[in-house]
Amino acid sequence: MSEVLLRVQELTQQFKGVLAVDHINMDLETGKIYGLIGTNGAGKSTVINMISGNLFPTEGQILYEDKPITHVPAAQRARAGIARTFQNLRLFEDQTVLDNVITASQITRTYTLFEMLTYMPRYRREEKEFAARSLQALQTMGIEQYASYQADSLAYAFQRRLEIARCLAIRPKLLLLDEPAAGMNPQESLQLVEDIRKIHQVHPEMTILLIEHDMKVVMNLCEYIYVMASGRMIAEGTPRQIYESEEVISVYLGGSAHRIGKQTAGE
Ligand SMILES: Nc1ncnc2c1ncn2[C@@H]1O[C@H](COP(=O)(O)OP(=O)(O)OP(=O)(O)O)[C@@H](O)[C@H]1O
Ligand SMILES: [Mg+2]
Repeated sequence: MSEVLLRVQELTQQFKGVLAVDHINMDLETGKIYGLIGTNGAGKSTVINMISGNLFPTEGQILYEDKPITHVPAAQRARAGIARTFQNLRLFEDQTVLDNVITASQITRTYTLFEMLTYMPRYRREEKEFAARSLQALQTMGIEQYASYQADSLAYAFQRRLEIARCLAIRPKLLLLDEPAAGMNPQESLQLVEDIRKIHQVHPEMTILLIEHDMKVVMNLCEYIYVMASGRMIAEGTPRQIYESEEVISVYLGGSAHRIGKQTAGE
């Protein structure tokens, strides 16, 4: 039987004058790929911000491995295995590709400053492990050949992959991807689908929550889909159920089911 890794209960975010997320519920089971879709401004990124701890909810709670984490800081959640990418790239542009990933992985370090300065065994052991994991993460994302390049010299689609590699290096249990294919052309988006599939194969125990505008990507990849509109969760189900949902078709797709197969990134 599958276990629920993350449970979101009545989660709400009220910004000044905007009810961005309105009492939503989600159950994410271990090892599954979930999609979160919805129109612009529906509240999707706000949901991810609350799950990652970059933003605290105004109401509701978040349970991770059956424990409440609603007000736990983001860094502590990352150490507990919740990793995320941002809708807009956030890389260390002047670092190498490999250093970008190593820096991200160091959030899980247990060595002290003293151990680092005195080059103690625990420091050396962990740093070796971080370097190995980071290289493996680059391999999973197919960009290991660029390890020594400066991050901002990579093509845009590879920078997007690098951001995901940074997440993989902390060996997350929950991977939150906020529009990883944003700004990619259709071919690059399809390649990214294959990369995410590969992540799922290499790490079958990892749970993935993907925000994505490209319906082809979501329908191809996700086992279960949540649909938001104006802060509310208007539907959830398998790709087939979502494809056939009258409410989704009328609210999200503007009344044309036909568009499901045609929508592309950025629409
Ligand atoms: N920090 C903030 N302060 C005030 N309002 C905000 C803030 N962040 C988001 N909002 C508002 O909350 C609503 C939800 O925004 P959010 O970014 O979560 O939507 P989204 O579904 O991710 O949209 P998109 O598809 O455009 O990325 C929007 O009306 C947005 O303007
Ligand atoms: Mg967003």
